[in-house]
Amino acid sequence: MAEVIFNKLEKVYSNGFKAVHGIDLKIAEGEFMVIVGPSGCAKSTTLRMLAGLETISGGEVRIGDKIVNNLAPKERGIAMVFQNYALYPHMTVRENLAFGLKLSKLPKDQIEQQVNEAAKILELEELMDRLPRQLSGGQAQRVAVGRAIVKKPDVFLFDEPLSNLDAKLRASMRIRISDLHKQLKKSGKPATTVYVTHDQTEAMTMGDRICVMKLGHIMQVDTPDNLYHKPKNMFVAGFIGAPEMNIRTSKLVEHDGRLHLTIGNETMPLSASKQEKVLDHKGQDVFYGVRPEFVSVADEPFAEGGCSGEMVRVENMGHEFFIYLKVADYELTARIPSDEAKPMIAKGLNRRVYFRFDMNKCHIFDAKTEQNISL
Ligand SMILES: Nc1ncnc2c1ncn2[C@@H]1O[C@H](COP(=O)(O)OP(=O)(O)OP(=O)(O)O)[C@@H](O)[C@H]1O
Ligand SMILES: [Mg+2]
Repeated sequence: MAEVIFNKLEKVYSNGFKAVHGIDLKIAEGEFMVIVGPSGCAKSTTLRMLAGLETISGGEVRIGDKIVNNLAPKERGIAMVFQNYALYPHMTVRENLAFGLKLSKLPKDQIEQQVNEAAKILELEELMDRLPRQLSGGQAQRVAVGRAIVKKPDVFLFDEPLSNLDAKLRASMRIRISDLHKQLKKSGKPATTVYVTHDQTEAMTMGDRICVMKLGHIMQVDTPDNLYHKPKNMFVAGFIGAPEMNIRTSKLVEHDGRLHLTIGNETMPLSASKQEKVLDHKGQDVFYGVRPEFVSVADEPFAEGGCSGEMVRVENMGHEFFIYLKVADYELTARIPSDEAKPMIAKGLNRRVYFRFDMNKCHIFDAKTEQNISL
C-alpha cells in the first residue's frame, strides 16, 4: 500500500529533448489514476520513470515514504502491464503466472496459492493448462494482468494495455480491470494504480481521477465529472468528450446592457451567471465552447436567444443524430435525440434552421491564455 508522488519531475533524453517539464502529481493510496493525452505527450516516459525503466533527469518520485529515484524496478514494489504483453509462448498459463514468483525464490506452496488466487479473480481457472497460442486476445491479456497481480504489488502500472484488442473486448477488459481494482480495495489490499491511455473513453470510465497531459505538461488533474463539466482550459475541453466540444472564435459584445457572444453575424445572450464571470473581458476576443448535446435545433426561430445556420449534414447514430450546421465560416455539431431530429431531417438538408445553446453549459475561454474564464 502506497501513495505515489511526483515532485518537479523532469525528463531530458540524451539527445537533449525535454520530454517532461517538471510535473507535480500526488496519487493517493489505493487511487485509480489515469494519465491521458495525445500521442507524444510523455505518458509512457512518465510511467517508465515511475517504474524505474527510465532515468529521472530532475525532481523526485516517491512511492510510500521512500524516494525511489535510484532504486531498481524490482525494489519499487510495482508491477507493470504493457501494450505488448508478450507471454512466454512455450509455457502454460499456470507457468506464465508463476514465473516471476519462481524467480523471486518464493516457497512452492506460497507460489501455488498466489497463482490460484489470481486465476480465480481473473477467471482463468479453466485455462491454466493452455499455451498462449491457444488463448483469445482477451484471455491472453487477462493472463498478462494476472502476472502482475500475483506479485501483490503496492502499485500497478498499465501502459495502454488494451490497445491491441478490438472495441468489444476493450470494453469488457476495461470493466474487468476496474472491478479488479474495486475488489482489491474491498478486500483491504488496495493497489494504487496508474493507468496510461490516449483513449478518453477509457480515461473517463476507469479513473477515480484523470491527469490530462500535453507536451510534457499537466493541463488538469480532476475527477471525470469535473473534467467534462469544468475543464480549466481549452485543451482539456477539446480533448475530453466525443463527439468533441464545439470550440469557435467569438467576441463578447454588449447589447441593451447584456453581454452577448458573437456567432457569425448574429449574437447570443449570456446567462446572468456566465455574464458575471466574464464581465472584465467585455469587448474582447474569446473562444466559446459548447458540447454538442447542449445545442438545440429547430425549424422555426427561438423566441429568445437563438441564431441561424444551414443544416449541411446529418449522421444517424441510431438513438440520436449528429446534425452539422454551417454558421459563418465554420461548422457546429448538434447532438439531437432521434425522435426530435427525424421530422427536421425529413424536410431536407441545405436549408436554414435555428439553434440555441444551453448558456449555463457554455464555456468561454480567453483568446490568448486559452484558460476557461467562465467557471
Ligand atoms: N529515447 C528517446 N530519445 C529522445 N526522445 C524520446 C525518446 N523516447 C521518447 N522520446 C520523445 O519523448 C516524447 C514523449 O514520448 P512518450 O513515448 O513518452 O509519449 P506517449 O505520450 O507515451 O505517446 P504514445 O501515446 O504515442 O505512446 C515524444 O516526443 C517522443 O518522441
Ligand atoms: Mg506511450
